[in-house]
Amino acid sequence: MERIEDAGVYKLTGDLAIIQTVDFFTPVVDDPFTFGQIAAANALSDVYAMGGKPLTAMNIVCFPIQNMDIVVLREIIKGGIDKIREAGVVLLGGHSVDDQELKYGLSVTGTIHPDKVIRKEGAAPGDKLILTKPLGTGIISTAIKAGKASAQAITRIVASMTALNQKASEIMQAIGVNACTDITGFGLLGHAAEMIEGTDVGMVIYANSVPVFPEAKEMAAVGMIPGGLNRNRDYRKSIVKMEKAVDAITADILFDPQTSGGLLISVSSGKADLLLEKLRQAGILSVAEVGEVIGELKGKIIVKSA
Ligand code: CO
Ligand code: CO
Repeated sequence: MERIEDAGVYKLTGDLAIIQTVDFFTPVVDDPFTFGQIAAANALSDVYAMGGKPLTAMNIVCFPIQNMDIVVLREIIKGGIDKIREAGVVLLGGHSVDDQELKYGLSVTGTIHPDKVIRKEGAAPGDKLILTKPLGTGIISTAIKAGKASAQAITRIVASMTALNQKASEIMQAIGVNACTDITGFGLLGHAAEMIEGTDVGMVIYANSVPVFPEAKEMAAVGMIPGGLNRNRDYRKSIVKMEKAVDAITADILFDPQTSGGLLISVSSGKADLLLEKLRQAGILSVAEVGEVIGELKGKIIVKSA
């Protein structure tokens, strides 16, 4: 089957390809500088998921110029530039339009060796599945909009969403992995499904091994469920089988749409411990082994509690 990759790759020569992606969205937090940081980290992530090196970026801005203070826009762009600089990427320009609803993001261009592209497909039986960031940003963002999120919950998700997937990407490239994607709008199980749909392998996910922000469970329990979560579950019901032992809240969180989520990496079992160790050494402390790839259940995912 024709798989849609995280970013577009265009081969220029035998050893050089360009990699391009674009992403923009409405604010997920109240602070404009922080929103800019998150939007930039999120836009860069698709390049990192494929093992590319981002080089340049362009701003994409939709701004309600009649009824919002221009200072807000300046702060958003400052936040974006802050993350772009951290990534070693150069901002070349951008484009803004007057729009009712504020949106911000970036197009990103990078380079990659055409033979070293890490695709969604390629997971092999026996592989371990490694996730680099906790889940629950969608649920907590919904709680923020409802005025229900605690300061601690916000601090926690902001630290995660503003963290670049750069180090994780460099480490997985150095070690050599079989497949990768980043976890964004379709949630962990939606993006996991993209890795195995139509292939000869299946996946087991161990729900209790998946890292989750503690507040996400509390907030989900009181109904802070983003609309996208239920759509994600409906869309993948023919692929994902949830065992009865998995509690309902955890089952929801596995479909929670993420903003600037972590990488989901499929790595041979012989390299999994080294990958985990290197990621932890790099300060990625919430990294966890969340499942494995199997030769049975072709194109399907079974979620077990443990
Ligand atoms: Co992606
Ligand atoms: Co994307």
